[in-house]
This record gives sequence, C-alpha cells and structure tokens, in this order.
Amino acid sequence: MEYVIINGDFINRSDAKIDMEDRGYQFGDGVYEVIRVYNGKMFTAKEHLERLMVSGKKIGMEISYSVQEIKDMLTELISKNQLTHGTIYMQVSRGIAPRNHAYPATDVAQTFVANTKSVDRPARNMEKGVNTILVEDIRWLLCDIKSLNLLGNIMAKQKAVDAGCFEAIQHRGDIVTEGSSSNVSIIKDGKVITHPADNLILNGITRQKVLEVCRNNNIPVEEREFSLEELKSADEIFISGTTVEVTPIIEIAGEKVGDGTPGAVSRQIQELFKKAIEEECGCLNN
Ligand SMILES: Cc1ncc(COP(=O)(O)O)c(C=O)c1O
Repeated sequence: MEYVIINGDFINRSDAKIDMEDRGYQFGDGVYEVIRVYNGKMFTAKEHLERLMVSGKKIGMEISYSVQEIKDMLTELISKNQLTHGTIYMQVSRGIAPRNHAYPATDVAQTFVANTKSVDRPARNMEKGVNTILVEDIRWLLCDIKSLNLLGNIMAKQKAVDAGCFEAIQHRGDIVTEGSSSNVSIIKDGKVITHPADNLILNGITRQKVLEVCRNNNIPVEEREFSLEELKSADEIFISGTTVEVTPIIEIAGEKVGDGTPGAVSRQIQELFKKAIEEECGCLNN
C-alpha cells in the first residue's frame, strides 16, 4: 500500500481526496517543496522546510505546522512507504473556501498534503550531460517563492521537450536567470558564476549546497548576473536541483558547450556534492 499524508492523516493513496474548492486547486494559492531521500534519509530537510515556511510567509500564509512537526510526519511517511531512494513532494494551500480571489478568513484550515516517489539518482544525465534550449523568462517577479503557480515554468519545460531537450534555460532580455526547474551556473576560467539569490530566481537548496562546497574547497564562486554572451562562451555549464543534483549542460540550442562533454570543474563539483550527500545520508552506490 502506498501512503500519502493529508492534514496529518496517513491514508491509502487511492482513498486520498481533495475538495474541488481547495484554493491550491483553484488558484494555485499555496507553496510546496520537494526533498530528496537517499538510503531512507532526507537530505537537507531542514533547509527545505525552512524555505517552505519562508515561502508561506511571503504569500501571507503562516504555515500551521512547525518544521519539526513536518519533519516527523515525513519521516513516518518514508518509513510507511519503505522509501529508499526517491523524493517527497509536499504542498500547503490556503485551504478550502467558496471561490473568491480575496483570502478567506484566517480560521480556514490550510491543506497539507505529501506523497513519496521512488526514484534513483539521475546517473546517466550526470555522467553524459544534457542538452538545452533558451527561452525568454516570462514569469512573475516573485520567483523566490516556491509557489504552486508553475505555468511559466511548465510552459518553458514543454518547449524544451518539444525541441528534444532536457531543460530550458530562461533569460530576461540579456540576463540568464535559471532553468524551468533548476538553477544555472556557468564556469569561466575555473570560477563558478550564478545569478544572485534575488526575486528573479528560486534560491535552490542544491545551489546553496553547491556554493558551500565550492567555497570550502577553494573553487572560486561569484553570485552575479551574467549575460547570454557569457553563457554561450562559458567553459562549462551545469544545472542544479533536488532531482537533477549537479548535471552538466553540453549543448545550448544546438551549439556545443566547450568541447561538448562535461568539464573537469563540473565533475569535481559533482563529487563534492556526492560527498555532502553521503555525510548526511550514508554511502551511495552510484
Ligand atoms: C524554478 C526552479 N529553480 C531552481 C530549482 C532548484 O531548487 P532546489 O535545489 O531547491 O531543488 C527548482 C527546483 O524545483 C525550481 O523549480
């Protein structure tokens, strides 16, 4: 049996039901997180759950569970579903109320749901690298919030899929922002350069971990805007994210990045990131 959580209850997935007037469903009025599980243990759970709280605050929704309460529920879900390697998805919406744009009264209970998915590390993509396209970033100006509203992101991703590519790299005019579901970093002369954590990108937990391991291992990093020209002339490029970890980009819109194979600095960062996972979650086989 596969369990899911709805408002603190552990129930069979096929019995799970959400009211059609849930504001998450009608307005995308809520926030979410995805946490990686390795060896049955959550990786960077605290960071993800603290971001969930911040995302809630930024939309005027104080999440009714504490970080520890959510962590305890998710730990139990992992155990009930006997999840070894995979992801946990959770979302919190502003609750169920007759459809009206304005927020409902504060005594309306939020809806918290979570489910798990069994999935291995993306070994092949991390090894071989992936190809990408460029798309104009048409999203709103609060991309730092991990909001349920993902239309801009999913439309960008679909363009990539239609072009036979793995990811869409978004740019606002000349400035590269992030992928449709990942952060983008370029490497030039050994230095990692990535968009600053402002309102134009989601400050990825993976991005933050990557910057941390680079700083701790004398790989220079710079958080600053970079242009399409810099992207195209980068020595190496990688995307980072909970599900993609550190995945090299080997092609942009049909043009090779460097020599068209993952570069040495990306490889080093992948190894450092793997070490960080192993420190928290134990040994990885691949
Ligand atoms: C738009 C966007 N940027 C960046 C990321 C990477 O964030 P994280 O490393 O926290 O998974 C994601 C992940 O889903 C995302 O959707």
